[in-house]
Amino acid sequence: METQIYTPKEFPELFNLKSLSKQAVDYHIKLYDGYIKKLNEIQDEYKTINLDTANHNYSHHRSLLVEKAYNYNAVVFHEMFFENLISKPFEPECWLKEKIEKYFKSFDTYIRDLNATVRSSRTGWAITGYNHTDDTIQNYAIDSHYISVPIKISPILVIDTWEHSFMPDYGIDKAGYFEHLIPEINWIIVKDRLQKAISDV
Ligand SMILES: [Fe+2]
Repeated sequence: METQIYTPKEFPELFNLKSLSKQAVDYHIKLYDGYIKKLNEIQDEYKTINLDTANHNYSHHRSLLVEKAYNYNAVVFHEMFFENLISKPFEPECWLKEKIEKYFKSFDTYIRDLNATVRSSRTGWAITGYNHTDDTIQNYAIDSHYISVPIKISPILVIDTWEHSFMPDYGIDKAGYFEHLIPEINWIIVKDRLQKAISDV
């Protein structure tokens, strides 16, 4: 059985951000590297697993499947989060604003809804996603890395809401974390993701 080997990507731009201290970025990178290491271990171990031992109550096979999803999502969410941050702030393009305003009435309403989503998110992720089922753009709160993950959704903007992302710089002030993060969102990446998601319909 062929399995994918994952290698950590470099994200030097993270160290130029004003919204995240070097300490916070170091935490993210260390955790990201750890998820990749474990994901590769799981993939490697799966190659030799005895499929006859599979059991839904408890089995090593089941554990590998569950933890594969957990670590895989952690890697992908982190990469999307890192990629949608940039130290040079700029306004979102008209095309993106119009698409978002179609569902949220105004861009400010969308930002307020995303702010509320971050505040409602537990240890996990706040995302804006393109919904392939009803052709809408909505915000979602995902617990951990794999609980309440909506299906047929393409994330276009991802925000880490695990404690290591806001505690080092903002304590328990998640709203303050959000306020500082938003000016450093890379709206070009968000637009590119949305364009791709729509073309995949
Ligand atoms: Fe993180």
